[in-house]
Amino acid sequence: MTDVPTRYLGELAVSAQGLGCMGMSHGYGATDDAQSITTLHHALDLGVTLLDTSDFYGSGHNEELIGRAVAGRRDEVVLATKFGFANRLGEPTLIRGDAAYVRQACEASLRRLGVDHIDLYYQHRVDPQVPIEETVGAMAELVQAGKVRHLGLSEAGAQTIRRAHAVHPIAALQSEWSLWTRDLEAEIAPVCRELGIGLVPFSPLGRGFLTGRYSSVEGLAENDVRRSQPRFADGNLERNLAIVAKLNELAAEKAVTAGQLALAWVQHRGDDVVPIPGTRRQQYLEENLAALSVDLSAEDLAAIEAAAPSEQIAGNRYDGTSLTFVNR
Ligand SMILES: NC(=O)c1ccc[n+]([C@@H]2O[C@H](COP(=O)([O-])OP(=O)(O)OC[C@H]3O[C@@H](n4cnc5c(N)ncnc54)[C@H](OP(=O)(O)O)[C@@H]3O)[C@@H](O)[C@H]2O)c1
Repeated sequence: MTDVPTRYLGELAVSAQGLGCMGMSHGYGATDDAQSITTLHHALDLGVTLLDTSDFYGSGHNEELIGRAVAGRRDEVVLATKFGFANRLGEPTLIRGDAAYVRQACEASLRRLGVDHIDLYYQHRVDPQVPIEETVGAMAELVQAGKVRHLGLSEAGAQTIRRAHAVHPIAALQSEWSLWTRDLEAEIAPVCRELGIGLVPFSPLGRGFLTGRYSSVEGLAENDVRRSQPRFADGNLERNLAIVAKLNELAAEKAVTAGQLALAWVQHRGDDVVPIPGTRRQQYLEENLAALSVDLSAEDLAAIEAAAPSEQIAGNRYDGTSLTFVNR
């Protein structure tokens, strides 16, 4: 086990970097369960404790995969999963946060994961039809029943976070945060900090783009979600590549990779920040963990931010419909 520092999400102790598991089931092309399980075990061996999944990833496949990987090693893991997308992959989006659904979703996740409790249970997207008090009230009952230890929200807006936290302490907000997605910095992160809520940036590598690995969508699988994301669209992608070119230059000066620099920037946002880069591969896992040791000065941070000015970033982070579900 290596020396991965500990950080706190509310009162929940976790490794300073978690592992995002979504790509092991869907989103980013062909998957290989055996390879994913090897990577998951390697992560635990290296001292990563926080594994991030959702009932939505692979329509349940991802939770089953994580369940298989952690069988026999449950005590080493902080298991984080989510509910809220009531549709299966490929079906029209249906978001549910009513109390009956929360209870039902939790039972199904426990069954797929093969565990008797979830360490961190997030609402994946806020349901605008249901008062957040009802949703978090039902989540709090799961805590009282011992089925869940800590509560989280994903892509919730500032007012929703305040109302939720008044019902039951929220340990973590999981929202997109990276060099090219900074919309939570103005209002949402300050509210989390005021309330002692930890921040879990998802897609901290900009869905892999900030590593410099993708200069076109040519090599991506037909069902890769990035093909339908505006920042990867023709015209936008070319403009966004200028960010990567500058990141590559800065990274070379520090003898690190562009991805490590992008990740180190996120990690320097504060001691309450625990990014969850996603990978299916041991090699990237090791590279990403090594970013925890990249020290950045105030000048470095300013130079990195100057590489990705907001006016340079072309395209929204989600398509039109999905964009209506975030920060609300
Ligand atoms: N709450 C939410 O709504 C939400 C939304 C999206 C994601 N998430 C969570 O956040 C996690 C991370 O987000 P993400 O997976 O979307 O994006 P990400 O971490 O920004 O990027 C993942 C992509 O980057 C590639 N990659 C990772 N490390 C790399 C490296 N060192 N060099 C080159 N390529 C590298 C991965 O490739 P390989 O897979 O080929 O290794 C994958 O294609 C997810 O797994 C999921 O758990 C949550």
